[in-house]
Amino acid sequence: MYYPAMHTKKLYIVMVGLPARGKSTIASRMRDSLTRDSIPARVFNNGKLRRKLTGIETSEASFYAPENREGVALREKIALINIERAKAFLTGKGRVAILDATNVTPKRREKIKALLSDHPIMFLECINEDHEILEANIARKICMPEFSHLDRDEAVRSFNKRIDFYKAIYRPLETEKNFIKLDSLNRRIIGEHIDEDIPFYDRLRDFLVTDVVKNLFLVRHGETYFNLENRIGGDSPLTSKGLEQARSLAGYFAGKTIPVIFTSKKLRTIQTAEPIKDLQDNCAIISLGEFDEINSGICECMTYGEIRLTMPHVHSERQKDKFHYVYPGGEGYATMKDRIDRGIKKAIYLSGVSQNIMIIGHRAVNRMILAHFLYRRTEDVPYTYIPQDKFYHIVATQNKKLFELKRF
Ligand code: F6P
Repeated sequence: MYYPAMHTKKLYIVMVGLPARGKSTIASRMRDSLTRDSIPARVFNNGKLRRKLTGIETSEASFYAPENREGVALREKIALINIERAKAFLTGKGRVAILDATNVTPKRREKIKALLSDHPIMFLECINEDHEILEANIARKICMPEFSHLDRDEAVRSFNKRIDFYKAIYRPLETEKNFIKLDSLNRRIIGEHIDEDIPFYDRLRDFLVTDVVKNLFLVRHGETYFNLENRIGGDSPLTSKGLEQARSLAGYFAGKTIPVIFTSKKLRTIQTAEPIKDLQDNCAIISLGEFDEINSGICECMTYGEIRLTMPHVHSERQKDKFHYVYPGGEGYATMKDRIDRGIKKAIYLSGVSQNIMIIGHRAVNRMILAHFLYRRTEDVPYTYIPQDKFYHIVATQNKKLFELKRF
């Protein structure tokens, strides 16, 4: 296709996907990343415009029913306003206009193509069917003022119904000239078809598959009674020194905004998180089983000394290859990898556009989290230094990788 103004390198990105599939987070992060590189980019979000222009009635599920003619007409009108705004933006100084809406029907996509024929269009479909993530995402969505007149269960039901209406008319991308299908939780490209020169293509594609963490604060729980005895696993609470460590962490982070703290399901990480949450204005603790400490199977709750004495083979085999060794009836570093990676993806996804993420984990878990971002030989991973009076500050974006061990 010939674009009259092609030499200016401008691009429309059209998001596609059901509600709560991470489209808006990706759209705004993509905008921020382009803007930082002095590429003027803007997001045109239909939901935001709807909330601005209309009243509470458009939050009702019935507004989204395909047979609700008024609803359909109003949504098309809103889509049209944003299409026109996007076009005006690229006609001016803008370089990348991102249309952020469900755009799930071929009819809508045809309309977009017909009206935006002055520059290439790349469709970006976000897909995610992980139920736990969807639930957490919906829980976040229903905190928006448009659901404030409903109680929690009603709001969840209403949002799910809205999703069902979209599912009924959803046609995934297949025939568009340029498209990428993204597994938005795992940041994996699962389908791709590019037929034209797409401006900024490499940097955008690379962005889509990068785990972007602006500031990840990786903390180990405070001292526990088990730590005092060199006892492994279990679910021991913090000692008074451990509680004190949690309080000083809380003081240290009081000046920063921490919207979510991810912990394991173990008491010691939750106890470390609580004082931090208490000193924040608006902070939630999300406990993920993915961040539970290595399961040491038949050795759970034993001391290293007891293991050496009563199970010398376990001790010697583990020493030979600590990374690959699997505790009988439990786990090893190598077998923890998948769940740790899943936990990191969940934490990043659930943090949305927040700049700061905090994970409070355990010694082995934090070693694996660090290894996810920082290349280490596998044989060195199980010996990474994970103190209880310091935390790792990790930055991993397209342009910057930083690891710093900081005292609090
Ligand atoms: O001792 C604390 C602890 O978190 C144990 O629960 C866990 O088994 C251990 O550290 C992991 O460290 P390593 O792999 O060095 O034994």
